[in-house]
Amino acid sequence: MHLELDGKGALYEQLTRALKRGILGGHLGGGSKLPATRDLANDLGVSRNTVLTAYELLCTEQLAMARGGSGTYVAHNMGPRTSPSASHAVGPQSRYAARTRRLGPTMLARTQPPVRYDLHCGEPLLSPALASGWRNELGKAAMHTELRYTTLQGLAALRQAICDHIARRRGVLANPDDIVIVSGTQQALSLVARVLLDDNHRAVIEDPRYELAFQTLRAHGCRIVPVRTDEDGLVTNELPTTSVRLVYVTPSHQFPSGSTMSLPRRMELLAYASERRCWILEDDYDGEFRFDSKPIPALRSLDVRDRVIYVGSFSKIVFPALRLGYVVCPKALVDDLVAAKKLDDLGCPAIEQAAMAEFIKSGRLERHLRRGTAELRRRRNCLIDGIRSHAGKHIRLIDSRAGMHLIGWLPGFTYARFAKLIELGRQRGVGLHAIHHFYSVAPETPGLILGFAGLSPIQISNATKILGACIDEV
Ligand SMILES: Cc1ncc(COP(=O)(O)O)c(C=O)c1O
Repeated sequence: MHLELDGKGALYEQLTRALKRGILGGHLGGGSKLPATRDLANDLGVSRNTVLTAYELLCTEQLAMARGGSGTYVAHNMGPRTSPSASHAVGPQSRYAARTRRLGPTMLARTQPPVRYDLHCGEPLLSPALASGWRNELGKAAMHTELRYTTLQGLAALRQAICDHIARRRGVLANPDDIVIVSGTQQALSLVARVLLDDNHRAVIEDPRYELAFQTLRAHGCRIVPVRTDEDGLVTNELPTTSVRLVYVTPSHQFPSGSTMSLPRRMELLAYASERRCWILEDDYDGEFRFDSKPIPALRSLDVRDRVIYVGSFSKIVFPALRLGYVVCPKALVDDLVAAKKLDDLGCPAIEQAAMAEFIKSGRLERHLRRGTAELRRRRNCLIDGIRSHAGKHIRLIDSRAGMHLIGWLPGFTYARFAKLIELGRQRGVGLHAIHHFYSVAPETPGLILGFAGLSPIQISNATKILGACIDEV
């Protein structure tokens, strides 16, 4: 088998990437057997352990499956998304395309067939009432919305409604002129990258990290500096002393570890940005869901020097298919951001914006959030109770009291045993997802990122029962 190692990082990482490219590109077909570890180690001149670790990582990512005794096989549903001849007939046509081709898949994008109980952290809290309510909002909005090209910065009514909402809920005082409506956090990240970063500028990103922020900045061509996080959020005294243009953070609820950035760290980060004249991108993706107290005000609420680009999204609090979010933009950047938005899409869809403006103004978003928080609390309690009863001896839960997922560490588990657990869970209908993919170096102890928003309490109970049984078996 021809595998090209890219020379970056540890050998097992290089090999995992090369195999992944082979699987996702369709060169290693679904169901086919991977070479025996000894043979591949000999072919490549690496140790057998390197190959074993790479295979284990592929199994953890569910790209491959170990069949006890008979070897490791490419997962059945794997294959090229398009025919290899169509997508890779030519080399990348730009540096951007070359960089995006090198990015791996993201954990947030589903590569597996659905399972009965998927504890995926990207699953939103949905309800039939929400869908029919939103249909009504859209119907009403369509009747009175101007159908010509819309304002680039976003409808004034929505920008005003967002200002009221974030003042009440996030402690952020903004003027409608500071707001730019975007199609979700993802567009905000792309626009900010274009406006702030040239090739080789440095951007700090939290470790562990939100993959799409990492990939967006990487594809853009900047140099990424991972900075560790702990229970108080970003470890600010490890911020680089070299020049940095942007620091990306999730202070309300670090993604994925769940910590909340402490006040001293917030102040240190703001001081760092102000001294070095760099920018902070605050991704406040689910900061409105807290279960112990009122939501903690956003970092932007402390930002007297106007260095924080605050990004809010309706993906978690309403639903992700909306593709609607907003940036509270430092004054110095508004025009550049709007110019980039113009070249991207000439503004977000007006009817959806008008519907959202009314949804907020009428108090229906507030009601939806109150009900949503109560429902999420029920689901979260159910997950905590279920894990304690069925897997309490093995899983150490980190309860961040916020958001839509918890972290469960499995001390005493090796990664090989952990991969077996994930595979067995899938066979029994429970989707389990590893946290180590989000780290620049896998932590010693394997851990699960346990999303609870997308399953009912009963489903969560069933899932934890199965999880407990799987742990006992592996
Ligand atoms: C850290 C983080 N940021 C942002 C988002 C939302 O992104 P978007 O607004 O593009 O849907 C998510 C969703 O899962 C997330 O996990």
